[in-house]
Amino acid sequence: MIITRHFDEPKLHELETYRKLGGYEGLSKALAMKPAEITEEVRKSNLRGLGGAGFPAAAKWGTVPPADKVPGPRYVVGNCDESEPGCFRDRVHVERAPHQVLEGLLIAAYAIGAKDAFIFIRGEYGRPHRALQTAVKEARAARLIGDDILGRGFSCDVMLMRGGGTYISGLDTALLESMEGKKSWPRQPPPFPTNYGLMGFPTLVHNVATLAMLPHIAARGGEWFAKIGTPKSGGTMIYSVSGHVEKPGVYEFPMGTPLRAIIEAAGGVAGGRGLKAVIPGGTSTPPLSADDLDLPMDFDSVRGKGSFLGAGGIIVLDETADMVEVVRLIIEFLSHESCGQCTPCREGSVWTERILERMLEGAGRPGDPANLERVAGNVTGRTICALGDTVGIVLKAYLKKFPEEFAALAGRNESVMRQEATANG
Ligand SMILES: Cc1cc2nc3c(=O)[nH]c(=O)nc-3n(C[C@H](O)[C@H](O)[C@H](O)COP(=O)(O)O)c2cc1C
Repeated sequence: MIITRHFDEPKLHELETYRKLGGYEGLSKALAMKPAEITEEVRKSNLRGLGGAGFPAAAKWGTVPPADKVPGPRYVVGNCDESEPGCFRDRVHVERAPHQVLEGLLIAAYAIGAKDAFIFIRGEYGRPHRALQTAVKEARAARLIGDDILGRGFSCDVMLMRGGGTYISGLDTALLESMEGKKSWPRQPPPFPTNYGLMGFPTLVHNVATLAMLPHIAARGGEWFAKIGTPKSGGTMIYSVSGHVEKPGVYEFPMGTPLRAIIEAAGGVAGGRGLKAVIPGGTSTPPLSADDLDLPMDFDSVRGKGSFLGAGGIIVLDETADMVEVVRLIIEFLSHESCGQCTPCREGSVWTERILERMLEGAGRPGDPANLERVAGNVTGRTICALGDTVGIVLKAYLKKFPEEFAALAGRNESVMRQEATANG
């Protein structure tokens, strides 16, 4: 375990305890290196972004233009918007170990030459926000934030910003709009934030868990980190495990750990019931089947099964789960959170939500599954951001994996009519 190792320590959120356990040693080591040397350690570590896409961190850093080419400020933003159903690890993380996130944020800032760094935190996260506020205060008083950090000549300020309670604000370009005080409508990349970010300046956006890996990479080296995971994904993944398990919670495992081991750590399927499916990375990721339990959990292996590791929000669904209701809930969420900028997403999410609702109310029609498939196909790939893609990808995945459940509801109208006709003689 890297990130969660000391999570049981009651006062880990306090600077004194965090430092006693080796906290800020990574920053101290990083400040003794040249920025390019840290980037090299991150490259060796095979650290990939843990916010969903799994993009190699060092490759992203490499797209920040050097200061002599693009003068002016550059920024780092820690993304703690975490609004995807099934994901709660970032909340637990910033409440228990806020300094670990701040330390990572400062290392990233030093590496790219940022003098201002931010953490954008989900609006509803009151307690985690307070934990971060206190940590920032403590760190500033200890000269870990501000001018001449640890007497090494590096200065960086940290500011916390709260989201407005929208899922879309977690998407990096929408988050930047929100930070600028605007409606959080996603931007159409390119340019990507590392070139055109906050107020148009180069901005590195990382999930807070990705940032929190940096102190450990700086302290123990990229090669050490790489050895923990798979050849293409270094280190560990932090999962929020929920749904039909005995012990829902936050669990950390090396990249490539089989799904079975993670579910077993969470106490197995609740009540000893059979397993139907597992959502691997939050509700925007297609479900895996019960026979995928030996799948190594890393970005590439999960992708090979037609899904995504996402942000590690594992939701276990037992044999009693109604998969049409599950996908209806997901589509209801997405249609509620669609920003409305792109017509296919705005309309397609609502249309499909209504069809699913009608099917579940017992008024399904034989053509409903094909109609859902058609609308799903008309949303994916036709929107500015991945929220629209998700509507199509997720819906199609459930239709493909559980066709009999949709067919049963689509035929219900006719069979109910037949039964009524028989009953009425
Ligand atoms: C609809 C949507 C919501 C997202 N929400 C989050 C979020 O809450 N937290 C997060 O870190 N990344 C989220 N992302 C991914 C970010 O856009 C971005 O890729 C990520 O913050 C980069 O961090 P990483 O390099 O550490 O993965 C979201 C993406 C989409 C499409």
